[in-house]
Amino acid sequence: MNQKTIRWYFNCRKWMPKREEFLFVLRCIQKDEQERIMKFVYRNDLKHALIGRLLLRKCINLCLNIPYSSIKLGRSDKGRPILEEIKDCQFDFNISHHGDYCILAADDYAKVGTDVVKLQLSNVKFIPEYFQRMRKIFCQAEWKFIEGDDNNLNYQKQLARFLRLWCLKESFVKAEGVGIGFELSRIKFECDPSLTITESQIITNTNVYVDEELLEDWKFEETLLDQSHCAAVALYPKVKSEQKENSNNPPSFQLLSFDQLLEKIEPFNQVDESLWILYLSKSERM
Ligand code: COA
Ligand code: MG
Repeated sequence: MNQKTIRWYFNCRKWMPKREEFLFVLRCIQKDEQERIMKFVYRNDLKHALIGRLLLRKCINLCLNIPYSSIKLGRSDKGRPILEEIKDCQFDFNISHHGDYCILAADDYAKVGTDVVKLQLSNVKFIPEYFQRMRKIFCQAEWKFIEGDDNNLNYQKQLARFLRLWCLKESFVKAEGVGIGFELSRIKFECDPSLTITESQIITNTNVYVDEELLEDWKFEETLLDQSHCAAVALYPKVKSEQKENSNNPPSFQLLSFDQLLEKIEPFNQVDESLWILYLSKSERM
């Protein structure tokens, strides 16, 4: 497997930093990032954003051998994280956070996008109403997949399929870097209805169409991180019609511990110690 092939996930919900730990990691990110992150109202959002930065820096340090202090992360005009001052870094990376996890996918591809979605399947009462509001996001064929061939799937199963398609669409628009600028109903995903995503399996036979045209070069990997989180990775090759060969042996997401996340990390910034008090003043979003 290529050294630039990375699939990581980190459990932000379980991470309860102590004072020293929190101030230490803030020293390992850029000043502008410290400021942005400390503005989050809720602690969960703050932790997600902070861990996202640490995953990005770890990945760039590992793949490109750039010291932490020299990594300059910026954003495209659509908000996509980019590596400043390096024109062709030979690989692409993307992060996502939702529910308990923050995830990163990086690969030796021209475009990489990823998304994680928490499968909140408990409140099935409002599903018909919710689907009605979301009608336009998916096309007819996708609704057929969500609802099942004979409309025979229960609401929990329908919602799981709905969120699976959502996750795929997000991974695709994020690989393109366009964010919500893309008209989502133009994108159609075709999933094999006989396959259900599980923790032990990575589904790679999903196809994407834009304006009814099959985009043959795109590849998707879908898996469950646990019973309530699904993840998708969208990949577009550097050279068309190549790089499909990995489909038989797709990489699994690796759960990182906090120690693994911090391995080889080098603090390079100062930190104002009052940021700990500010962190403590924030509440958890339920
Ligand atoms: N392209 C690629 N990646 C982007 C991006 C862009 N234009 N803008 C931001 N990102 C990255 C960032 O790293 C960001 O995290 P950070 O700010 O902590 O660095 C991360 O993606 C956010 O992704 P995720 O956690 O999955 O958030 P999201 O799913 O709420 O939003 C967006 C992803 C911002 C790219 C955008 O697609 C969006 O707002 N989507 C939600 C709305 C929607 O209609 N979805 C329908 C899907 S069917
Ligand atoms: Mg998302």
